[in-house]
Amino acid sequence: MAGREAEPERPPSGREMTTGVDNEMQAPAAEALYDSIGVGYAPLRRPDGRLARALREAIGAATSIVNVGAGAGSYEPPDCAVVALEPSATMIRQRPAAAGPAVRGVAEALPLADDCVDAALAVFTIHHWADVTSGLNELTRVARRRVVLLTMDPRLLEQHWVVAEYAPEIRQTHVASFPSIAWLLGALPGARAVEWEVPADCSDLFMAALWARPEAYLDPAIRSATSAWHQLPAPIARRAVERLGADLEAGRWDARHANLRRTSTLDVGVRIVIAELTATDDRRDRVPRR
Ligand SMILES: C[S@@+](CC[C@H](N)C(=O)[O-])C[C@H]1O[C@@H](n2cnc3c(N)ncnc32)[C@H](O)[C@@H]1O
Repeated sequence: MAGREAEPERPPSGREMTTGVDNEMQAPAAEALYDSIGVGYAPLRRPDGRLARALREAIGAATSIVNVGAGAGSYEPPDCAVVALEPSATMIRQRPAAAGPAVRGVAEALPLADDCVDAALAVFTIHHWADVTSGLNELTRVARRRVVLLTMDPRLLEQHWVVAEYAPEIRQTHVASFPSIAWLLGALPGARAVEWEVPADCSDLFMAALWARPEAYLDPAIRSATSAWHQLPAPIARRAVERLGADLEAGRWDARHANLRRTSTLDVGVRIVIAELTATDDRRDRVPRR
């Protein structure tokens, strides 16, 4: 097996990492979804400090990272040189002014050189990729040390009360897009999964995060910041929300779940998958087809 490359003396700047890349590269398929549903994303999907710390720990000693499916820049460590890769212009426009450079592109064809960063990060995005296998092969190609994914365990997500009791159709339209954790662990070299229990007051309002705040699902703005509700046919989403509203008003939701209002954190399936890249041979098109 080939050995590790020598450590760079300093982290490359974002500009160096993307030299020669066409920043206007088009990414039509994925761009379409988030150019429409990504409007108003940043204020509702505010990065949660506790999750940011867990992801920073997972990134480890890396000083340069590519954030794939970077969206508005959530969870990019401020102490790393970051290049953000994102297909949607709507999402890129919501990045803070101080954030690193954003390149338009998709995970399946990263416009980056081999071994150009210490770590590749992909947060709440792999379920949107048209080809997860190609995307993961690309992450392992460009990263020297680690790949860090934040994703959902579909087995737990489908048991979330909002899915199981109000919108079981989400299993087909959304949950089915998440690769199983077992598949990810088999596909990525040296991979392990870390459970992240979601705090009841998590500031990042992704769908499963609202497990203790049922009233939040009644707010159309909050629903609009999560793809699961967009992917659901409108009449089905409306029926689910109406039933939840009626159950809340009548006390039926609390009769079943009042204990959740007194619970501080819950495992709803959020997983940090960390792959350790040890040799170049490990990282060449090794991810098997799903
Ligand atoms: C739920 S958002 C997550 C954004 C950000 N990582 C965060 O945690 O807030 C999913 C992101 O994945 C991006 N995306 C969709 N398909 C993609 C693909 N094939 N390659 C890279 N990113 C993609 C979307 O444009 C969107 O910005």
